[in-house]
Amino acid sequence: MTRTLGIDLGSSIRSAAIRGLDPLAADTLCFDMRRQNAEADVPALVAALRSLVPSLDDVAGYSPEACVAAMRDLGMFLGSIKKHGPEPVPLVPEITPVLLELGRRTDMVPRDTVHHYTTWNPAGGRQRMYGGDIQEAYLQESVRMVFPHLREGLELAGVLSDTPVEDPKFAVLTEDLTGHVETMVASIDMVMANVSPVFFARALRSYFEEITVDGQVLLGPAAAQVPLWLIDQAVWASDRSEPGYEEFLRDSVPYSLPRWRELYAYWTGVPSVVSRLVDAYGEDPDATERRVPALRASSEALARLLRVIVVFRGRHLGIARKAYDADLRLYPVGSGGASVDLLRQITDLTRATARLIARRAGGMGAEAGHEHGHGHAGAESAGRRTA
Ligand code: HEM
Repeated sequence: MTRTLGIDLGSSIRSAAIRGLDPLAADTLCFDMRRQNAEADVPALVAALRSLVPSLDDVAGYSPEACVAAMRDLGMFLGSIKKHGPEPVPLVPEITPVLLELGRRTDMVPRDTVHHYTTWNPAGGRQRMYGGDIQEAYLQESVRMVFPHLREGLELAGVLSDTPVEDPKFAVLTEDLTGHVETMVASIDMVMANVSPVFFARALRSYFEEITVDGQVLLGPAAAQVPLWLIDQAVWASDRSEPGYEEFLRDSVPYSLPRWRELYAYWTGVPSVVSRLVDAYGEDPDATERRVPALRASSEALARLLRVIVVFRGRHLGIARKAYDADLRLYPVGSGGASVDLLRQITDLTRATARLIARRAGGMGAEAGHEHGHGHAGAESAGRRTA
């Protein structure tokens, strides 16, 4: 599909520029915020936020990058106040038109997202952190490190979705895509090694609570907004998903970048890559493969991609189970509004799809991602529902 014009806020050059900006002169206040959070000093957080809110005239003079940086810093205070209980916007009502305008100027939701909290957040001394614990820094870094790869990966998925499965380029593109998705596994390994489920559950989770802006309930800037689900949408989920996952995806898309929302809309209307491959094999896969030998390389490459996604999801589910254990958790569901049970369903669906393709690829990786031995849906339960 073709790319529409618009400001590509996700590009690495723009992201670097945004990290360098401090349009609200908030560096010091953002640093003080860590102590105010430790002391649950809501009046101080509210006073700081009040002092930062720019006028609409100021906002009119901002570049798009400055709008993003301003949203980032206001967002840190919104999430902080909400952590301690109060709904933040009614305490600083003059912020509403500013949030709406910043959202409009950047073509994003009128609050901060995971992009603001990670990719658009400066590293080092100016890093915005709710509490300042090293474990929070690891979580921020785990997301920051995947975004450039998912961005590239999503563009590759766009090309892949327009490439015939019989074309030798299909396998090459899929291998490239897999290389980018592998960073998700490195990311979750880093979290497993450095972030304890107790820290996440008891110290960090509550900063990602939803807030209400102008009557709209908006989710917090958590990793559930990392668009692995959008790669799924191109690869298998556009026509082989289940209602729970479809709803989660629909609810998540508004928090992503404009370009990704455009890809979602496009992929939702076309057959998934997996379905195209299954169709190409037809009733007699062996005969088809003799006739079209390139299909073997295509299905092997796709099986490898799905296996990597399953490995990420298996490990991620392990952490989520621990952090949302009934004895530990403060919230029954994730900040993205979904339960650990939905995560299990998504993992099962991915695993079933991986197994389906692994069979076409001659059985390689047929037991994809069984390292954690979670239950799984019937292999064909992810059966295709639309043409
Ligand atoms: C302590 C660490 C983590 C915990 C406890 C955790 C927990 C959760 C939970 C409960 C969900 C369900 C959606 C929701 O939030 O409502 C979720 C979704 C998700 N999380 Fe995490 N997460 C963690 C770290 C990460 C990291 C580091 C990444 C990636 C860089 C990540 C990526 C995702 C993605 C992509 C989803 C959407 C579902 C999917 O595509 O499988 N998470 N997470």
